[in-house]
Amino acid sequence: MKKLFIIAFMLIGLCSLQTNAKPINPPDEGMWLPMFIERLNYVDMQKMGLHLTAEELYSINHSSLKDAIVNFGNFCTAEVVSNEGLLLTNHHCGYESLQKHSTVGHDYLTNGFWAYSKSEEIPTEGLTATFLVRMEDVTKKVLADVNDTMSNASRRAAITKASDKLKKEAGEKGKYEVQIKSFFDGNEYYMFVYEVYEDVRLVGAPPSAIGKFGGDTDNWMWPRHTGDFSMFRVYTAPDGKPAKFSEKNIALKAKHSLPINIKGVKKDDYAMIWGYPGSTERYMTSYGIQSTLEQANPAIINSGNTMLPIMKKDMDADANIRIKYASTYAQLANVWKNKIGESRGLKRLKVLDKKKELEDQLQAWINADPARKAKYGNVIQDLATASKQLMETKSEMNLWYFQGILMSSKVLLAPLQTMGISALIEKKDTKPEAYDAFTDIIKELYKDCAPATEKKLFAAGLELYRKEMPADMLPDIFEFIKKEYKGDIQKFTDEAFESSVFASEESFAKFIKKPNLKKFQKDLINKTTLSIYNAFIKTNTAQKDINTRLNVAKRLFVAALREMQPTKKFYPNANFTMRMTYGKVLDYTAADAVHYDYVTHLKGVMEKEDPTNDEFIVPAKLKELYNKKDFGRYGSNGDLVTCFLTTNDITGGNSGSPVINGDGHLIGIAFDGNWEAMSGDIAFEPELQRTICVDIRYVLFCIDKMANAQNLIKEMNIIE
Ligand code: ARG
Repeated sequence: MKKLFIIAFMLIGLCSLQTNAKPINPPDEGMWLPMFIERLNYVDMQKMGLHLTAEELYSINHSSLKDAIVNFGNFCTAEVVSNEGLLLTNHHCGYESLQKHSTVGHDYLTNGFWAYSKSEEIPTEGLTATFLVRMEDVTKKVLADVNDTMSNASRRAAITKASDKLKKEAGEKGKYEVQIKSFFDGNEYYMFVYEVYEDVRLVGAPPSAIGKFGGDTDNWMWPRHTGDFSMFRVYTAPDGKPAKFSEKNIALKAKHSLPINIKGVKKDDYAMIWGYPGSTERYMTSYGIQSTLEQANPAIINSGNTMLPIMKKDMDADANIRIKYASTYAQLANVWKNKIGESRGLKRLKVLDKKKELEDQLQAWINADPARKAKYGNVIQDLATASKQLMETKSEMNLWYFQGILMSSKVLLAPLQTMGISALIEKKDTKPEAYDAFTDIIKELYKDCAPATEKKLFAAGLELYRKEMPADMLPDIFEFIKKEYKGDIQKFTDEAFESSVFASEESFAKFIKKPNLKKFQKDLINKTTLSIYNAFIKTNTAQKDINTRLNVAKRLFVAALREMQPTKKFYPNANFTMRMTYGKVLDYTAADAVHYDYVTHLKGVMEKEDPTNDEFIVPAKLKELYNKKDFGRYGSNGDLVTCFLTTNDITGGNSGSPVINGDGHLIGIAFDGNWEAMSGDIAFEPELQRTICVDIRYVLFCIDKMANAQNLIKEMNIIE
């Protein structure tokens, strides 16, 4: 999902000094590094209801809970739920795979898919499952040759050199993938050693009427009734090592798999979530918030406003187009709604004012001591100056319009992904096979294209960009359109789609048989994309100096904040490394007189049913089972719990993460956040912020009673 920063905890820290009642760290906030649990969190966790030892959670010598946590495809989380490498994740994490395997005849999006034996599982090329072997604090080693007086460029070079050496050593000649990432804005560095499995197969998913029930209307909202889960399996070479797909591969022998507990959740029950949160900006400054509110978010929101209805109209009219654009649409709609909510939350919760207050407080603390003044005296002023300069360049706005358009229009994206062609043509003596890689890229990209829809997206994207970006920042293609087409973007688009190499898979295939550099350089779609791209690179280069100053100031700002509060436990921003958050099952009050319970039921699915709206269709079989109250061992009090809420601190990337009770058993799968706290990536709001989880009993009910996939039920360790 996104990025954040925190102020709320400071204020809470102050309260606690006054009342002596609240702890400095509210227990729910924080995405903690597993290697520090014992030192930072364990006592708290035990008090709240954890019964496992710290060693059972994270160990590098024995198998532990962390071995069941999977980085799913580098964008989501999954968990191992059987000794044979069976994974659970969200439906929306498996969505792209489901879409890729779907056709109008085999529509797994609409109907779901279940493998009733391993031989029916579907290989999904390109999908990976990554396991963490270990993590290590390498700050001292990475910063060994760094000093306070060196230039930022020398600092970066020293860091890269030290990191490369460490990565090489830890990689053991390709056995592991090693990453070293910056934490606390460059104040600390950690190394992560991973094993990457490349044979991951689709095992099952419910129909979208369950897995995506409520659609974009309910997305980012509670009360929720979505069965947002899907299943995959990791395969290995016969010797257990990671391997590309092969018939000879075998199911992964899991180091640890999570037992599943179907006793049900109660208010205040202990709950922890493990996974891969992608990005937060809890240390964002007031200046960052201003830029988010004025430039980044409006650009994403506008892009969605323009592009989504175009896709939707064509998708509604044609089943083939619906499948082609399903994943692209869902991804854009998801960030679009997220940013609407984020801007709303930032304003309502007065986050900008709170950040300003914190910056004033920090400045006063710095001024109070000459040594601090020498070290940090200019930090806040530097942040203000550089941020203001950056905003004047409108670079955030440029970035997000560019992103918004490229996220929708595959034809505009195509020239970027095939940029190497020119160099190949220039080499002249190239064999035809040399172009195969590009043909593959286009095939993959255009598989999900409908030419008429693409044409509309292309024209609308250019119109939007021309309308919203300042005239003096417009790439030269707009000057060309003005001169050659009297500024008529539609006419330009018509001609581009008549003549361009990138107009369709066929036109590309024809071109690649007889590639010609002149033709390629004059190609209208190629020219358009490269022109926008080059303008983007140009502004980025021009800003290098501002960004450097901003990064230096940010590092010092975070260092000063931590120094100001020596007893507070700080947690680093999310950066797609493994984290753990602990809290409890809890309801909330969303607004004056609006109180939300912490569980939803199948009854609510029936209440939301609307056969005229494809977001709220209820499958006939689900209704039948509901009417017969045939919930098997998964029901309680004459109904079936569908989703529940916890106080855990998660963000995008955590999608699919296991919700685990005090005994280390799986009780749900995290899949969303709530509308009232959408500014949560920037400031955690303990009273309002909740994680939305699908109850594991609803998941098992769907596998057992809806799909009758007894093969999978038998494989899992279910505790009644
Ligand atoms: N908001 C969820 C997330 O970003 C995704 C939910 C997908 N469901 C949907 N109806 N679009 O993790």
